[in-house]
Amino acid sequence: MEIFNKKQDLKDCLSSLKAKEKSIGFVPTMGALHEGHLSLIKKAKQKNDIVVVSIFVNPTQFDNNEDLKKYPKTLKNDIKLLESASCDLLFSPSVEEIYEENISSENFDFDGLEHQMEGKFREGHFNGVGTVVKTLFEIIEPKRAYFGQKDFQQLQIIKKMVNKNRLPVKIKGCPIFREKDGLAMSSRNIRLTKEQRDLAPFIYETLKKVREKFGSENANIINEWVENQFKKQPLLDLEYFTIAEEKTLETIENRESKKKYRAFIAVYADKIRLIDNIRLKN
Ligand code: PAF
Repeated sequence: MEIFNKKQDLKDCLSSLKAKEKSIGFVPTMGALHEGHLSLIKKAKQKNDIVVVSIFVNPTQFDNNEDLKKYPKTLKNDIKLLESASCDLLFSPSVEEIYEENISSENFDFDGLEHQMEGKFREGHFNGVGTVVKTLFEIIEPKRAYFGQKDFQQLQIIKKMVNKNRLPVKIKGCPIFREKDGLAMSSRNIRLTKEQRDLAPFIYETLKKVREKFGSENANIINEWVENQFKKQPLLDLEYFTIAEEKTLETIENRESKKKYRAFIAVYADKIRLIDNIRLKN
């Protein structure tokens, strides 16, 4: 695997590969890689000649400085994992390399997707994500880019950005990867204490029960039920739970037969924020 820190070096390498008609698959990450990331790389390997992974902890998408400072950084181990996954190129730039002198976000209009769920609790988050992903797309110009469905709102927002800006890249959403006990894999999981880690599967357990209830119960009743479940769990603080339509991410009012719905949740274990979601059968 070749490692690049400078965008011009990566661009030069990619243009010689593209001249040989090699297709480029791209997996953007913030590092602290786990099986979920490796599954995206595996998907990318199946469809593309060359797979590029980026590791960049993007400061503009953090609304909380402590979360940014404490974001796990495990580059040495990440490199080992990438090599074992046969990743071809790693792009690991500095903040200056991406933002030069101006560490700020572009203002995007994602047709309202940005105001739902995460958008209500993490100010400026999606402008930061949009800015960095667009910049990385401009540098790498991939044919396909791979994102996990754990960040389902992010996935929809990136699809929207690509459509609105007519960017020549296909966005591929990939299934959530879970630990054996159901906890959605996340780089933040390694920050959980043993006690928090033991309790965290409760999040997915609750989502699975929501999926059962969605067949017969009204969304408001399910919301109330979820809130009550979390009141019994003092170590897990529910930030939001909502059942929303997949396309608009708007909270459900009346169920319509042709629409697809998901339940979304964000929970704090002390200062560590965990999100998850589940597709519901309509
Ligand atoms: O999902 C992530 O890890 C990040 O939001 C992304 C897409 C790499 C942008 O920084």
